[in-house]
Amino acid sequence: MTIEGSDCVVRFESVGLRYGLGPEVLQDISFALAPGSFHFLLGASGAGKSTLLRLMYLALKPSRGLISLFGHNMATTSRRQLPALRRRIGVVFQDFRLLHHLSAFDNVALPLRVAGVRENEIRKHVVELLTWVGLKDHVNIRPTILSGGQQQRVAIARAVIARPKLLLADEPTGNVDDRMAMRLMHLFEELNKLGTTIVIATHNETLVRRLGHPRLRLDAGWLDAGTPDQQAAGKPAAGVFAAATSGSRAKQSSESAA
Ligand SMILES: Nc1ncnc2c1ncn2[C@@H]1O[C@H](COP(=O)(O)OP(=O)(O)OP(=O)(O)O)[C@@H](O)[C@H]1O
Ligand SMILES: [Mg+2]
Repeated sequence: MTIEGSDCVVRFESVGLRYGLGPEVLQDISFALAPGSFHFLLGASGAGKSTLLRLMYLALKPSRGLISLFGHNMATTSRRQLPALRRRIGVVFQDFRLLHHLSAFDNVALPLRVAGVRENEIRKHVVELLTWVGLKDHVNIRPTILSGGQQQRVAIARAVIARPKLLLADEPTGNVDDRMAMRLMHLFEELNKLGTTIVIATHNETLVRRLGHPRLRLDAGWLDAGTPDQQAAGKPAAGVFAAATSGSRAKQSSESAA
């Protein structure tokens, strides 16, 4: 769903992005995402999907135009405020970016530790989520000896465990089979039902067709945000978030999502 106004989670106005002195890889991008919306981000390889996501998770600054996140104009937001904003965003990187000296458990636990969640709760939630993504027997294993698809699932678990306000996932099912891809999509849909705004960059047209969420399409640096669309009726993921985020954090999130 695209909206106008200041209550949107993400808003781009005439944003352009060039790397260094190169050509603009994104041109005049304007769109807004409503709280609780779910979008697929589509486009050919090299169209700029990862670049657009990098702008949204504040790893890049636009070369021109205005970006606002959670109602904050990023051009006037101080560096001091950035870590707090970033903590509201969960990211699944295209190249996973797991910490290789830590186990799968400790990678996924990281956002909860940063948020000051008690260690016994962390254990319960992390094991539950890793079990849900099919990694029950890999909890204590380091990423270097996990397969690509297993690493991808650890990266997804890390991105969603703390129930971010905004989840940005870059080709999050590129390394798993169709059945697991659908399971992971249901996990994102469950998170979305709890109020998280979601953007998923993907090449998987089958998933996009089956789930039917609105599409943002990049073509040669231009964005087609389409027309506002209905939210698809996705299946819940066995209540894994309800369980994984019980207590004050869950209450806080459901209150602000209401
Ligand atoms: N760090 C960088 N420095 C210079 N150019 C870059 C950099 N990252 C990406 N680009 C260029 O920006 C354009 C968009 O790249 P981007 O990675 O955003 O595409 P993408 O849609 O995510 O592609 P894919 O589907 O293959 O992941 C490409 O032309 C790419 O060469
Ligand atoms: Mg990419």
